[in-house]
This record gives sequence, structure tokens and C-alpha cells, in this order.
Amino acid sequence: MALRGERFVAAAVRAVRPRWHDARTREQAARYWSATGSDVSWQSNSHWRDGIGDQAFEEIGRDHWLIYQRFARALRIQAPGRVIEWGAGGGANAAAFAPRAQGFIAADISLDNLAECARQVKSACSTPLETRRIDLSNPTAAADGLQDACDTFLCLYVIELTVGVEAVRSILGIAQRVLRPGGMAFVQMKYHTGESYTRGWRGLAYTRNLASTTTFTIEEFWRLADECGLSPQLIYLVPHNRLDSRYAYYALIKPEADAEPW
Ligand SMILES: C[S@@+](CC[C@H](N)C(=O)[O-])C[C@H]1O[C@@H](n2cnc3c(N)ncnc32)[C@H](O)[C@@H]1O
Repeated sequence: MALRGERFVAAAVRAVRPRWHDARTREQAARYWSATGSDVSWQSNSHWRDGIGDQAFEEIGRDHWLIYQRFARALRIQAPGRVIEWGAGGGANAAAFAPRAQGFIAADISLDNLAECARQVKSACSTPLETRRIDLSNPTAAADGLQDACDTFLCLYVIELTVGVEAVRSILGIAQRVLRPGGMAFVQMKYHTGESYTRGWRGLAYTRNLASTTTFTIEEFWRLADECGLSPQLIYLVPHNRLDSRYAYYALIKPEADAEPW
């Protein structure tokens, strides 16, 4: 009888521990990303020009622009139009996309990131720019008033830093809401393979493992996007680059109401 009781307690602890870890990691992540940007490693993790250096900063924007263009050409999309970037950081993508956009909206948790991103965009072009602060306790509020208002939604080097599938579902739901029908979400995530060491995990302090906090298999993410009302069309894999490994990029289209299935 005592043994059965112990087994029950052990099973209950096993079930509750991941949720407890996630709640703790969520708090750590929110605290980390809302901090002020004076710390050099924080600036590097946010991809500031001064944090990662000119070459890496420009490479991020250029590589993402080239992948976007491949997707856009294949899907017969002429131009990025009005763009929103979710988790814009220090503006590496913003500086590459804004000069080609009709308007650019940068959304981020940190006001310091938004200020740095705005600085980079203004030094690159005169495209109209708006900044929006994301409150992680209510992220959808940052997209208020943007229903069907954007042609392109960018979310790059962000998904792996979020804590758990529900946070990712919320981001994809926001993309679905702000895109006009036919608009494209250009989203990257970090994938795991059959090898267990490639899986995301959240046992340690958030900052010791932040770039692998949440991972998916390629098919899991494809299905998740579909569940969120975005139709996955194309994938581009980057098994390794100067920053890290196992990145998958998706072209996700918000379906037109009367569209034929692809
Ligand atoms: C590695 S930087 C990437 C910046 C930029 N997207 C790029 O590719 O250079 C990660 C950014 O994501 C933001 N971020 C972290 N968690 C987020 C979340 N749950 N939702 C939105 N943004 C988040 C951070 O504030 C930070 O600016």
C-alpha cells in the first residue's frame, strides 16, 4: 500500500514538474527581455549592430531578405508591402526590409530594442515606421487595430526563445489576425531531429539555454501553423550558419476566403 502511495506521489511530481519549470522559465524570459539594453551580452542576444558587429548584423538582414525573395517569387508575391516584425530586436531585419516596404511596424518586448531598431531603420531609409511594445502577459494587445492590415509578418530568431507551444500558438494567431487575406507570414523556428540533444529544454536558468528553449519537428510546426489558420506553402532549411544550427523557415499564407485549396 505504502509503495502504491509513493508511486502515486512520484507520478504526480513528474506530471507537475514541467509545468512548474515552464512557469518559472516564463517569468525569467519576461524579466530578461524587458530589461534595459546596457549589457553587452543582452545587446548581442537582441542582435544589435554593436552587439554582434557590422558583418553579422548585415548578414542577418541580407540572408533573410534573400530567403523571403525566394518564397515571394515562388508564390508570385510582388513586394513585401506593409510589414510587421514580431520580436524586431536591434533591427537587423528591419534595416533590410524597411527600405523595400511601404511601411514597417516593429514590435518588441523591450523599449530599448524598439529605440535601437528605429535608429537603424531611420539610418537606412525614410519608410514610415511605427513601434509597438509587446507585454508578454497580453501579447495580442500589441496588435490592436491591425486586423487584416499587413501584407507581411516577420518572426525571425524568436520562436526558439519563447516558452512552450502556447506562446508560439499565440504568435501565429497574431500573424493570422494582422495579415490581410493572401498575406505572408515569414517565420523561422529551430527544429529538432531524432537525436534527443537537439530538443528544446527548460530545466536550467533561462539565460543558459535561451536559444533552444522551444523547438519543434519540421512537421509539428507545419501542422501547428495550419491549426492557427495559416496555410504552410514552402520550407527552407539552414542546417548550420554562423549563429547556430537547425533553422527552418516557413512561408505561411493567410488563405483568401474563396481560395481554391492548394
Ligand atoms: C535574437 S533577437 C532577434 C531579433 C530580430 N528578429 C533578428 O532576427 O535579428 C530576439 C528578439 O525577440 C524578442 N522576444 C523574445 N521573446 C519574445 C516573445 N515571446 N514574443 C515576441 N518577441 C520576443 C526579444 O525581445 C528580442 O528582441
